[in-house]
Amino acid sequence: MAPPTRHRRATPLPTRRPVVIANWKMYLGFQESVRVAGAIRSLVGRMAGRAVDVVLCPSFPALIPVREALAGSRLLVGAQDLHPEADGPYTGDVPAAQLRGLVRAVIVGHSERRRGHGETDEQVAAKVRRALTAALVPIICVGETAEERAAGDTVKKITGQVRTILAGVSPLSLIRCVFAYEPVWAISKGPGQPRPQPEPADAAELMGLIRKLAADHAGSGYAAKLRVVYGGSVQARTTTAFVCEPGVDGVLVGAASTKAGELATIVRAVVACHS
Ligand code: PGA
Repeated sequence: MAPPTRHRRATPLPTRRPVVIANWKMYLGFQESVRVAGAIRSLVGRMAGRAVDVVLCPSFPALIPVREALAGSRLLVGAQDLHPEADGPYTGDVPAAQLRGLVRAVIVGHSERRRGHGETDEQVAAKVRRALTAALVPIICVGETAEERAAGDTVKKITGQVRTILAGVSPLSLIRCVFAYEPVWAISKGPGQPRPQPEPADAAELMGLIRKLAADHAGSGYAAKLRVVYGGSVQARTTTAFVCEPGVDGVLVGAASTKAGELATIVRAVVACHS
């Protein structure tokens, strides 16, 4: 009897589950973090981990109670930063070893840390390597400032940031990373204070640049599995326009993510565009 014919897809489809990341910055207190996490769980707990990954990133002291509030669900917890060194004399910093086991992901290279703490691309690259070594998913923020944009340096800026970071990332590790394109000028000033956003098609083009740089580094097969999200004044009413653009795998949400109802609408909009 002839062996059964194997049917293979000519080009395997990339398997990129969309992702919504909530960056709570210093907006929510300890108890509010637990309350909002619980409310988000009741609203989108069923979708999380299936149609979409949802990652809540509270401040460090709230990591453990938020994790407890989400226990038994598929919602994920992330940290807002980590130190690039494994241990040592670094007052006030948190090492990857203490985050490992507590969180699944960690934001690195956020523009507020680059600006407020003078973080360089090289330091961000070291943080990415540290996160990967600790089996954490690095959520890597890149993007141009208003001045760089006005000078026509957007592509140059993003290319420099991404290349420096990718230099220390193996192809296999690349697919565990999430890149967030966050134009610095579009990041809100806080809850209820959004800034103007880029045209979704322009943002998607720059996110395509990130994927192309990843393909140059690791090959198109690996780059096709990399998740790239948009961040900057994302609100429920603006989400669909961004995430329905090709190659946009989700959003990184700051101020709007502190309201459970608004974040749930954002999560549903992402799922609707990707199903
Ligand atoms: P925003 O913040 O949604 O409040 O603009 C996004 C971010 O800084 O990650």
